[in-house]
Amino acid sequence: MTATLVDNLAQLVTHDPERPIITNAALVMQNGLVSWVGEAADAPAADDRIDGGGRAGIPGFVDSHSHLMFAGDRADEFEARMAGQPYAAGGIRRTVRLTREASDEQLLANATRLIAEMRAQGTTTVEIKSGYGLTIDDEVRALRLARQLTDETTFLGAHVVPEGVSHEEYVDLVCGEMLEACAPYAKWIDVFCETGAFTVDESRRILTAGIDAGLGARVHAGQLGESDGVRLAVELGAASVDHCTYLSSADVDALAGGSTVATLLPGVEFSTRHPYPDARRLVDAGVTVALASDCNPGSSYTSSVPLCIALAVREMGLTPYEALRAATLGGAAALRRDDIGRLTVGARADIVLLDAPTYVHLAYRPGVPLVHRVL
Ligand code: NIG
Ligand code: FE
Repeated sequence: MTATLVDNLAQLVTHDPERPIITNAALVMQNGLVSWVGEAADAPAADDRIDGGGRAGIPGFVDSHSHLMFAGDRADEFEARMAGQPYAAGGIRRTVRLTREASDEQLLANATRLIAEMRAQGTTTVEIKSGYGLTIDDEVRALRLARQLTDETTFLGAHVVPEGVSHEEYVDLVCGEMLEACAPYAKWIDVFCETGAFTVDESRRILTAGIDAGLGARVHAGQLGESDGVRLAVELGAASVDHCTYLSSADVDALAGGSTVATLLPGVEFSTRHPYPDARRLVDAGVTVALASDCNPGSSYTSSVPLCIALAVREMGLTPYEALRAATLGGAAALRRDDIGRLTVGARADIVLLDAPTYVHLAYRPGVPLVHRVL
């Protein structure tokens, strides 16, 4: 078993509660796992060495919310929004049409291109949702292709009701035959619980059916206004409730008392001109917060977690460390994973070397490509 030493790190962010940040640090990896971390002066001998070059090392980003299985784009909608048009859930149906028309090769090539963008910006784990197929065959196809790219696949048949199908009929399909066909390719089930998509009662039915089929639950809620979807997520023990842009005090209390992560997606607020979610309020209440890209062609066409970190610091009240933590450890918690999002002994050695002496530069130097190398 070859041991590789990464040393000469000005700083290493481990997220170990005992020692979350080590200066003048080193790390040893073996078989893809971290086998030692500490001060460079104490580093054990190893077979190979990577010179950190005085850079900062951080855990790879865990992007726990993306919609990469799609075709086409909606730049015209973005342009119209920037001229004053509101965002509406209906735009999703345009992407559904284009996605159905695309070949497997086109869908895979588009998702692979976006994952390469993500990787170049420090993301080492990505969750991918279906939701632009909305027929049994198209949803199964999206998940089958997504499975080739990640283990973290999410069945989002309940994205919107497709054209030409009644609402009731479609909810029955999602809870029945579509779920049955998709479950073998999915780890998670998700619902867009929002005006224009699915009600709280429908969301409860769909999520419960998914949980009964052995999937973990995640929910889109609170994107366009306050909704009982946030408390539904907590009540059902969902791993994560995503967006959380609009929250009541009761929602914050429920999140603080439960095990559901609040995943914030500031690329959406950037791209829809909505107010940013109040991350400070959530962290102060003791809620576990994650940050993710929500990469999709409608509400947030960014693959950049560093952009989300910079927005969380500048617009959402987080400190640079809290934002980095949300994009790594928080994302891991949102996927119920303890092997990623941290650099402690036994964790996966997903390490990002920054062209910077400290992680603070991720927010301090917004828009600058700071990822030197992803290990
Ligand atoms: O997370 N909110 C629902 N789904 C996406 C938007 C998808 C789209 O507009 O195409 C989101 O923001
Ligand atoms: Fe989303």
